[in-house]
Amino acid sequence: MYRTHTCGELRISHVGEVVTLAGWVQRIRKMGGMTFIDLRDRYGITQLTIDQGSSHELNEIAEHLGREFVIQITGSVMERSSKNNKIDTGDIEVKLSSINILNKSVTPPFTIEDESDGGEDIRAKFRYLDLRRNPLKRALELRHRMAQEVRSFLDSQGFMEVETPVLIKSTPEGARDFIVPSRMNPGEFYALPQSPQTFKQLLMVAGYDKYFQIVRCFRDEDLRADRQPEFTQIDCEMSFVEREDILNTFEQMSKTLFKNVLGVNIEGAFPRISYKDAIDKYGSDKPDIRFQMLINDITDLVKHSNFEVFNSADFIGAICVEGCAEYTRKQLDEITAWVKRPQVGAKGLVYIRFSESEIKSSVDKFYTPEDLKKICERVGAKEGDLILILSGETKKTKEQLGTLRIELGNRLNLRKSDVYAPLWVYDFPLLEWDQESERFYAMHHPFTAPKPEDMDKFYSSDKEQIAQVCANAYDFVLNGTEIGGGSIRIHDAEVQKRMFSVLGFSDQEAEYKFGFIINAFKYGAPPHGGIAFGFDRFCALFGGQETIRDYIAFPKNNSGRDIMLDAPSYVDESQLDELYLKSIAKK
Ligand code: AMO
Repeated sequence: MYRTHTCGELRISHVGEVVTLAGWVQRIRKMGGMTFIDLRDRYGITQLTIDQGSSHELNEIAEHLGREFVIQITGSVMERSSKNNKIDTGDIEVKLSSINILNKSVTPPFTIEDESDGGEDIRAKFRYLDLRRNPLKRALELRHRMAQEVRSFLDSQGFMEVETPVLIKSTPEGARDFIVPSRMNPGEFYALPQSPQTFKQLLMVAGYDKYFQIVRCFRDEDLRADRQPEFTQIDCEMSFVEREDILNTFEQMSKTLFKNVLGVNIEGAFPRISYKDAIDKYGSDKPDIRFQMLINDITDLVKHSNFEVFNSADFIGAICVEGCAEYTRKQLDEITAWVKRPQVGAKGLVYIRFSESEIKSSVDKFYTPEDLKKICERVGAKEGDLILILSGETKKTKEQLGTLRIELGNRLNLRKSDVYAPLWVYDFPLLEWDQESERFYAMHHPFTAPKPEDMDKFYSSDKEQIAQVCANAYDFVLNGTEIGGGSIRIHDAEVQKRMFSVLGFSDQEAEYKFGFIINAFKYGAPPHGGIAFGFDRFCALFGGQETIRDYIAFPKNNSGRDIMLDAPSYVDESQLDELYLKSIAKK
C-alpha cells in the first residue's frame, strides 16, 4: 500500500498513529537541528519533521531532497507545538521514521505556490506543474462538481446523454470550421463540429425527446478571454415543447447549480428582457443587471439647438453616474479619451455635473440651465450625480453607452464577482444583414424558427420586412456574459427551405450542405427546441473569473497555440502526400 492517508487528512484525532503518506516535496526548511518538509498531494499539505534524534540515514536522505521530489514516508502523527490555522492539517505534524524517494525532480521553473512567480508563458509551457497549484486545482474541482450536478439534474428530469460525431460535414454559418482532410476520400474534408446542432435535431426526429451532452465544440474564430477554439457546451434539446418549457427547465437547472455548487439561493423567477429593451436600456444584448445606470434617450430634449454635434445625430443618449458630480476635469478628460479609443469609437463625450450649487456642463454655451435641468429629470439624476452623454448613429451610440456603462461599473466596483444576476434575453431578430457580402445571416443559426406572428414577413419579398422578423430565440445571461443560447427550431421542411433561400442559398447549395436535415424533416419531425450553455464560461463565472482559460485543463493561448505541445506544428511531407495536400506556407 503506497499510503494510509492523504496529505489533507490527518487531524488531532490521529495523534499517536503510525501513517504512510506519499506526495511531492513542496518546501524544506532547516531550523536549529530540525528539518521541516511540507508534503503536498491533491488533498493538502502535511508537515513532516526530522529531528536530531532521528537516524543518520534519515538525515542523509533528507539532505538530498529537492522541491517536487516524489516521496513516500512513514512516521508518527504528533500534536504540533505551534499550530498553523491556515491549513486543515495545521494541528499535527508527522515525525518521520523513513523516507523512500519514489522519483527525483529537476528544479521547477517557477514556484508551485498559490501566488506563483512564473509568467503566463512559462506556466503554460509547464501546464502540468501549474496544475499542481491550488488556484488551478480548485478551478478544475469546481468544473468537475458542475459537470456532476448537470448530469444528475438532467438525468433526474429524464434527459438522455447521447454522443454525436466529431468528424462531420463542413457547413460554416457563423464561425469558421476547423477542417480535417480525409485520406480515404482524396480531396475531401471533414469538419469538426461548431456544435452538435443538427445531430440533436436529428435525435428529436428519431424520437429521443430529451437529449443532452457535455460536448466539445470547435470554432476557428478570434480568441478573447471568454473564447477558446475548442470549448465545451452543455448541449440540450427537447421535443413537444414551447419556449416556456425550455426556460423553466433550464432555469431550474441553473438554480440547482447555484444552490448545490455555490450554496447560493436565487429567489423567484429570473428576470426576462426583450432584445430590444436590452439594447435600449443597457446598450447590450447581454446586460449586466447587477447595477442600474440605464441608458436614457434624450434626443427630443437636445436635438434642436445650435449644437451641431447633437443636431446632426440620429440618437442622443445619457447615463447617470451616481455620486460622481465631483469628478475633476482631468478625470472627465480621461473618460473622454477612453470613449474615443477605436475599441469604443465615440467621437466625443458631453457631461453635466449636477452638484449642490449648480448644474454645469460641457455644453453650457448651447443650453440654458432649464434645458439641463430637463435632462437631469429625464435621467433621474439627484444632486451629486454626473451625467454622461454620447450621440451619433442610433445602434452604435447605444452600444458605446453600453460599453461606457460597463467600464464605469468596473471602475466604481459595481460588478462584484460574488453577486449573481442571471436573466433571460428573448425575441432576438432572426436575421442580420451583412453589407459586405450583401446577404442575410442567421443571428442565432439557420435552424431557429421565426415567431409564428412574423411568418408573413418571413415570406415577404421585401428585404425591409424580412429584416424585421423576430426569432423564437433566447439567451441566458449571467453578470454581463452570454452563458447560453437557444431557440425553438424550424421543424417543417418547407419553412427550412425558405430559411436557406432567405440566407441566399440556391436550392442546389441548400441540398448539398443541408439535404440531410431537410430530408429528415419529411419523416415526421416533432416540434422541438433547445439550448446550449458555454460550460467553460459557466464554470469561470461560478469561480468569480471572466477568463475561461483556468477552467480548462489544457487550454490554448490567444493565438490558438498549445504552448506545452507546441501545436499546431508542421507535418512530414509524406503525411501531406498521403492526404493529397501540398503546403504553400513557408517553414
Ligand atoms: P451558441 O453559438 O450561442 O449556440 O453557443 C452556445 C454557448 O456556447 C458558448 N460559446 C463559447 N464558449 C467558449 N469559447 C467559444 N469560442 C464559444 N463560442 C460559444 C457561449 C454560448 O452562449 N447550437 C447552438 C445552441 C442551440 O441553439 O441550442 C449554439 O451553439 O456561452
